[in-house]
Order: sequence, then C-alpha cells, then structure tokens
Amino acid sequence: MELWIKRDDLTGFAMGGNKGRKLEYLIADALAQRAEVVVSCGAMQSNFVRQLGAACACFGLRCACAVMQLPFPKETGRPSVAPMRAVSGNVLLDGLVGLDLRVFEDGTWEELDERAEEVAREFEASGKKVCRIPIGGSSWLGAHAFEQAGRELQVSGEVFDWIVFASSSGSTQTGLARAFFGSSTRVLGIACDPEPEMTGDFAELNESVCRQMGGPSLAPEDFLFNLDYVGAAYGVPSEAGNEAISFLARTEGIFLDPIYSGKGFAGLMDLARRKAMEGRVLFWHTGGTPALFAMP
Ligand SMILES: Cc1ncc(COP(=O)(O)O)c(C=O)c1O
Repeated sequence: MELWIKRDDLTGFAMGGNKGRKLEYLIADALAQRAEVVVSCGAMQSNFVRQLGAACACFGLRCACAVMQLPFPKETGRPSVAPMRAVSGNVLLDGLVGLDLRVFEDGTWEELDERAEEVAREFEASGKKVCRIPIGGSSWLGAHAFEQAGRELQVSGEVFDWIVFASSSGSTQTGLARAFFGSSTRVLGIACDPEPEMTGDFAELNESVCRQMGGPSLAPEDFLFNLDYVGAAYGVPSEAGNEAISFLARTEGIFLDPIYSGKGFAGLMDLARRKAMEGRVLFWHTGGTPALFAMP
C-alpha cells in the first residue's frame, strides 16, 4: 500500500481543518444575505465553531453558537465519560476570536438544534438579520465546497484507489462522493458518530446540492461509510484512535485529533493491516488538532 496524506490540517486559516473550505462559501453567502449575525451550533470542542467564529470576526459579522459539552443521539443517551476541559483547546480559541459561545446543558442533537434556533430568534427579536448555518457547515454550500476540494485533487493528476477521512456532519463525504462519482477512486468515510442511518442524510444533502448545481443522484448505499471505529460514542476518544494519534506523531510528526481524524486514521490502519485496503491510498487529514489540548 502506498499512503499519501492531504494536509487540510494545514489549510492555515484559524489553525486549519476541513471547515476553512466550507467557510469560503458559507461566509460569502452570509455577506450576500446582508446578515449581521451568524448562528450555528456544535459540541463544545467543535472545530467548525472555532473556524466559523474566526471567519465571522474577519468580516465584521457577529457570531453566536449554541454548544453542549457532549450532545448525543436520542436512541443511545448520554455516554458517561469525564468531560474535556472546558476552557482549553477550541474553547480557548473561540474566546480569542470573540465568539459568543452559548453553553447549554447536555441533550440530544435535536435539542442542540432547538437551542441554536432560540439563539437565532433572540437576535431577530432585537431586529438583527441572522444567517443560520447548520452544524458542521453541512449545508449544500458546504458539500459544494468539498466537491471543489475533490476537483482540486483531480487537477493535481494524482489518482488514488481510496480516499479515507473522518466523517460526521456529512458535507465532506457528500462533496467528495460527488467529485469522484463514476471514477475508480473509492471514497470511504470513517464514522465518528454511531449512526448508520447517516448515509440517508448524506443522500438528502446530495439532493440539495443537485437542486442548486445538478450532478449525480446518490442513494444511501452509494456512500461507503464504516462504523467500526467510532468507539464508545461520538466525542469520546477511543483506544484505537489514541494509538493512531501516537503512531502518526512518532513516525511522521503529524498530529491527529481524538474525536475525528484519530478515529479516521485508526480505521485506515486497521483496514490496511487486514489487507482490506490496498493500492494508492490518500488519507484526507481534516484537522481538529486544537482538541488535543482539551483532553482530560
Ligand atoms: C477535524 C474534523 N474532521 C472531520 C470532520 C467531519 O467533517 P464533516 O462534518 O464534513 O463530516 C469534522 C467535523 O466536525 C472535524 O472537525
């Protein structure tokens, strides 16, 4: 197996990560709407919230985000784990960029969305024009941004048998799946959430991109989505993920994160060891390293 790494952890903006690509489009859209406030949500250590806050600061937009320490799926309930440190990692950076972080008691993902909606309405009640951005920046524009990222790779002329990455809110996976649809490259998302039905969300997200931009219609089964490396729950570091973090740090001096890219790389390592993945493999490093500093 030949391993390459696409360093989106080094995209540069606000400590890097995959969200910078989405924000190029999302912020342009907020400005086009003449928004004064951008409202979104995420887990307390959200990388998207950090980069969104920084991007808003650059363009004079106020940014308010509803966060919970550890949101969870309704079906499984809250995992019992030690919380990450609340003022370190991404939260520290959120403070530096002046983000209005609204911290709520832990609840389900649906409840987190409801809290964000309440924050948005609060601003609207005071006469402000609000732009709502879904969790992880996974609107059609976020997916479109990652389709462009896939095209960037195609233009480089390098061809891969596999592209592997950590997958969560879905716009990274949806965009890359669109870009490589019909090619010999397999686009494999390693799940960070224990929710198999998410491929249905990816298919819906693709439909919303198709409505705006055209492109291939994708069924849930068109998305390669491996749920074997989530560990105990979303947001909870796993043993295999931690091993992957140490391995890459000690062999290449490259840092992964405990919630996303560490689990993604753990999946890649395991599949490679079992010879379930061969040929030219690209690990798309989606960033997230600030969360390392919030580990208990
Ligand atoms: C570091 C990192 N990697 C991967 C992902 C997953 O990307 P997406 O939400 O587009 O599926 C995220 C999203 O939160 C992230 O922060």
